[in-house]
Amino acid sequence: MVTFGCQMNKYDSLMVEGRFRDAGFSITESKDDADVILFNTCSVRDHAEERTLSWLGELKHAKETRPDLVIGVMGCMAQRREDDVFRRAGHVDIVCGTRRFPHLPAMVNEVRARRAEGLNLRSSRLLDVETTGDWTLDRSDETYTGGLVGHLAVMRGCDLSCTYCIVPTTRGRVQSRPMAELVAEARWMVAGGAKAICLLGQTVNSYGEDLTVPAADEPQHRGRKGRPSLADLLYEMQAIEGLERIRLITLHPSYVTPSFAQAIADNNKVDRFLPLPAQAGSDDVLRRMKRGYTTGLYRKRAAILRAAVPDIELGSDWIVGFPGETEADFEASIEFLAEIGFSQNYIFKYDPRPGTVADAGVDDITTEQKKDRNQRLLAAAKDAGLRRHERMLGKRVSVFVEKLSDRDPALVVGRTEHYMPISLEGAADLVGTTVEVEVQQASPFNLAGVLRSD
Ligand code: SAH
Ligand code: SF4
Ligand code: F3S
Repeated sequence: MVTFGCQMNKYDSLMVEGRFRDAGFSITESKDDADVILFNTCSVRDHAEERTLSWLGELKHAKETRPDLVIGVMGCMAQRREDDVFRRAGHVDIVCGTRRFPHLPAMVNEVRARRAEGLNLRSSRLLDVETTGDWTLDRSDETYTGGLVGHLAVMRGCDLSCTYCIVPTTRGRVQSRPMAELVAEARWMVAGGAKAICLLGQTVNSYGEDLTVPAADEPQHRGRKGRPSLADLLYEMQAIEGLERIRLITLHPSYVTPSFAQAIADNNKVDRFLPLPAQAGSDDVLRRMKRGYTTGLYRKRAAILRAAVPDIELGSDWIVGFPGETEADFEASIEFLAEIGFSQNYIFKYDPRPGTVADAGVDDITTEQKKDRNQRLLAAAKDAGLRRHERMLGKRVSVFVEKLSDRDPALVVGRTEHYMPISLEGAADLVGTTVEVEVQQASPFNLAGVLRSD
């Protein structure tokens, strides 16, 4: 399994590996040992698709020397490009869309059976990009392989329609998974060694909006009309013994509610950090992105969170060079980043995605301008990051230690309760534990500190 793209893809890849194990396959570490190679792909920017195509290109020769090798493309690019994948890479056997993953082992077996019957590559190929079909998942018999920090997709798809974004096309409509199934899966992850769990969704705080309203005599939840909500899920997750940290990826400003903010305040396992992408600081650009909020509304949502959890840190994604972005629009992003004081920022140069609304306009900001704006916003992000990190100097923070440092064997690295990366002196016995650390150094992207046990 070769995985590109976001955390959702990491989750899906492990989930699919589980389905293959169930079907009698085993997972190899190296492509050279594999009978089946699957690419779990991303379409969010053109570069992501090009990388997959280049990896696929490298397998052409392997396929010629080993015609029995099965090569599959799954995920967002499979969903978006459908049989165009076969045209771009003639040696691919399977194209499987984002709603059809559980069918993959059967698809592989079918391709192999057709090949055994003597059918050629073209006639044994399979394509399944149906957009219907949900699945329930009981992983309790499976061995958990996700490690100390596990991913759990609580919903699939996205119901918004930001004009630059391909994700609603590739991932389809929102389907929230039933809460009982999620709690069972989280318990299974913890029993298998996970101590931190990232709850994933494209707009994870809209979890439950599509679930059915309970009858009057059924248990009511905190969501709209008594529906289950992310707040409910957080209380359930907090109660799981052995689970130490709960992380959320990614939130949308439109779904920030006081009951969600309260759930973070009430549940100390939830990180005091929320990725709440602003994308831009100009109301005109936000409107043309169809983000569904203005900077004024964003401020209100941030205020709801800070009222309930005063020390909450926020992170953001930004797009520079959106069609029609003027110098003044761009400067508004710099100002908004500084004003909100985001501790972590990911900056992307606008990339027209075929079929999206923004792509119908002109991609009128030159590559040079995009690069320049990217650099300038990055500088603002460094300043803001440094300021947020410096606020922690001298404080004692709770740190979840994740691994030994790659750079220095005498150090371990982890995340503070505010999701700030931190390093400290220590050995392997600290990994997987939560410790008290006094922060002694701060840089734009990191902290360093010392263990305090008194
Ligand atoms: N659901 C998440 C983001 C998913 S995509 C959310 O709404 O925040 C991750 C990030 O990629 C987005 O936040 C956005 O900043 C960036 N992105 C998406 N489409 C893009 C495009 N066409 N060009 C450049 N960046 C893009
Ligand atoms: Fe894309 Fe917007 Fe949905 Fe995020 S919320 S996945 S940016 S459409
Ligand atoms: Fe990429 Fe699909 Fe994730 S487009 S970012 S893999 S949802």
